[in-house]
Amino acid sequence: MFLRNLLCKLPPVVRPNNVHRIHTSVCTRHGEYEWQDPKSEDEIVNITFIDKDGKRREIKGKVGDNVLYLAHRYEIPMEGACEASLACTTCHVYVKHEYLDALPPAEEKEDDLLDLAPFLKDNSRLGCQIILTKELEGIEVTLPKATRNFYVDGHTPKPH
Ligand code: FES
Repeated sequence: MFLRNLLCKLPPVVRPNNVHRIHTSVCTRHGEYEWQDPKSEDEIVNITFIDKDGKRREIKGKVGDNVLYLAHRYEIPMEGACEASLACTTCHVYVKHEYLDALPPAEEKEDDLLDLAPFLKDNSRLGCQIILTKELEGIEVTLPKATRNFYVDGHTPKPH
């Protein structure tokens, strides 16, 4: 992460008599995109987070938002200890059944991790693997009673 942030701050390479820009993509840090508001109504994807006590938070997300980082922006208590690197289950959520088919199927690694998650249900998914699309308009995700952090004990990442 440090190296990546450092690389993002480097200026383009400038050579005498010839100017070359060695950089072809926009650098964004994890979660940076989710801190941007939707630019138009077309982009909006409404999502409701329901915490382990049943408290509901309705959020205006947008197409392309990662559910984990969107939760961080709005201080929803979804931990995400491994920062979406598929190495923990602390972003475990239950997806309202009617939206399950609108999600891409879980990859093998996500399925393997979910097998280790406490309070697993048939609608369990990892929040960091859910990217909002228009097909997910109105999605509801519920946080489990507890998650298991076997990635880094005691490490709680802060929003960027
Ligand atoms: S944040 Fe670790 S798997 Fe999602």
